[in-house]
Amino acid sequence: MNWQQRAYCGELDSAQVGQTVQLFGWVDAVRDHGHLLFIHLRDVSGIVQVVFHPEAPFYAQARQLRSEFVVSIVGEVKTRAADTVNPHLNTGTLEIEAKSLEILNQAQTPPFEVSEKGFSGEVLPFKVDEDTRLTYRYLDLRRPSMQRHLVERSALLKIVRDYLSEARFIEVETPVLTKSTPEGARDYLVPSRVHAGHFYALPQSPQLFKQLLMVGGLDRYFQIVKCFRDEDLRPNRQPEFTQVDLEASFIDETFIYSLLEGLIHRLFAHTGVTHLPATFPHITYDESMSKYGNDRPDLRFGWELVEVTDVFKDTSYKIFRMILETGGMIKGMNLKGQAAKLSKNILQEELAKGLIPKLGGKGMTWMKVENGQLDSNIVQFFSEAEKAALLSRMGAEEGDVLIFVADQDRALVHSILGQFRVIMAQRCEIIPENTFAPCWVVDFPLFENSAHGLGAVHHPFTQPQGDITGLDREALLTQKARAYDLVINGEEVGGGSIRIHSWTQQEQIFQALGYTQAQIEERFGFFVRALKYGTPPHGGLALGVDRLVGMLLGVASIREVIAFPKNRMAYCPLTESPSPVSSEQLNDLHIRVTEL
Ligand code: AMO
Repeated sequence: MNWQQRAYCGELDSAQVGQTVQLFGWVDAVRDHGHLLFIHLRDVSGIVQVVFHPEAPFYAQARQLRSEFVVSIVGEVKTRAADTVNPHLNTGTLEIEAKSLEILNQAQTPPFEVSEKGFSGEVLPFKVDEDTRLTYRYLDLRRPSMQRHLVERSALLKIVRDYLSEARFIEVETPVLTKSTPEGARDYLVPSRVHAGHFYALPQSPQLFKQLLMVGGLDRYFQIVKCFRDEDLRPNRQPEFTQVDLEASFIDETFIYSLLEGLIHRLFAHTGVTHLPATFPHITYDESMSKYGNDRPDLRFGWELVEVTDVFKDTSYKIFRMILETGGMIKGMNLKGQAAKLSKNILQEELAKGLIPKLGGKGMTWMKVENGQLDSNIVQFFSEAEKAALLSRMGAEEGDVLIFVADQDRALVHSILGQFRVIMAQRCEIIPENTFAPCWVVDFPLFENSAHGLGAVHHPFTQPQGDITGLDREALLTQKARAYDLVINGEEVGGGSIRIHSWTQQEQIFQALGYTQAQIEERFGFFVRALKYGTPPHGGLALGVDRLVGMLLGVASIREVIAFPKNRMAYCPLTESPSPVSSEQLNDLHIRVTEL
């Protein structure tokens, strides 16, 4: 194979006109003009047109070429006549006149067309269902757009490696067969053959190992690492996903903020985005929940949540009165200028009766501001004072739509409005395109209520902001953590914290979480022991690579930037895994399957 002389299809340029080049690749498309035969030849770099003349000794062989055949072609680079230039190809002013052809391999007719442009040059619509794409992922990956995703992912990860290496970070690999690390999901377990009845857990993150590397004096660590979490799948979640995981000693939050801001700037600049703020705004967890209904605010648009509970404290409107009498809240938002887009029918039937119940709500009150008045199906129940207060509180003007949700459950009000805000902003097309609004969400609570008592909001290794000695459950729930999330456009792309480095404080947290001394020893004994041998103050963060790359490339799902993702059922249609295993294998592993 003449690989030494190889030229790449998409990189040929007019400076090479007259030269003879060796090309390898796949037949992207064929056009037979009866006398002249044209093919588009595709490799990882792009496409170039090749022409076969009837007098060529290999012409008959060329006529057998079909899509996805693998060929070696030697040919001369020529300039195309002006009227045959293809503006849709980078190499559209050139063509290769074939001097030799070798068919290296044939291909069956693929289950879907790999060529994205055919010969027309215009990008063709691609409507293949995802499971077919995943079953034949190797063909899907041959499509230029998918190749671009992986090429760009590689380039972005190189930027990460370079950046962190420049900042003295050392790349270290941590074990994959390990012990459970609590990150809030279920573990994937691996049974041990040697230790009957014992299991490794695949890491939900390298959290404990990276902290042990700090105890081990490595000072600054990073790793581009697979993490495994058995959790309910969502569009931006995969059971195995990649993190840029990092940790540093003798630092505080400000180190992490400026390190990450520098890295995010470099990554976005690579894709041509230069409008990010020099430093990212900080928003507290409480403020985020109150204004945006969740802890990952999309700051590309307004529509902040506004509380109006007090406006209705003496209301005669029965539904509100009943909710307020039982300690509930009323909150709403101003869908600025959307009156024309949202008819009364849409507001009542599609949103109040359709969307809101899907989001978990019982109902929604809506009002349009038209002809200087509030207009809705219930506005007659409100007093003039209530209406005036609403208009002013909501900053309402002609053409606005006000919506309100009332419930006893304050968390539910926030959750409904938080989701509604984003769904409606998309639907009303108010989100500016190609805009990125990063922020740091800070001052998270340390603990939350969970089914079994207190749970850690991040993970139990996060340092509290204050001393928690002697605090009761209620007081613990008010404590804040030295944790931070990096959120861009409403997506959590990273999270981390300053860690506990005192073993007594670490035990205190485990105790607050309800672990007995025996449980602490069994699950975290090795870790607490390590903390006793001179642990430096340290902290870190992990970025979700798939989410970040997906955002940078503007794809709809993180599956588009993962070479071999699982489908929505955590299943791999390509390898058909997970799959049953033989009874011999199960016997070796001391496992009996009880339920099927
Ligand atoms: P956390 O659990 O926040 O933190 O994870 C860090 C980032 O990883 C991404 N992420 C995911 N991406 C795709 N699929 C998933 N299932 C998935 N789960 C998480 C998110 C998230 O922000 N050990 C801590 C980090 C630390 O404290 O340093 C951790 O794993 O973008």
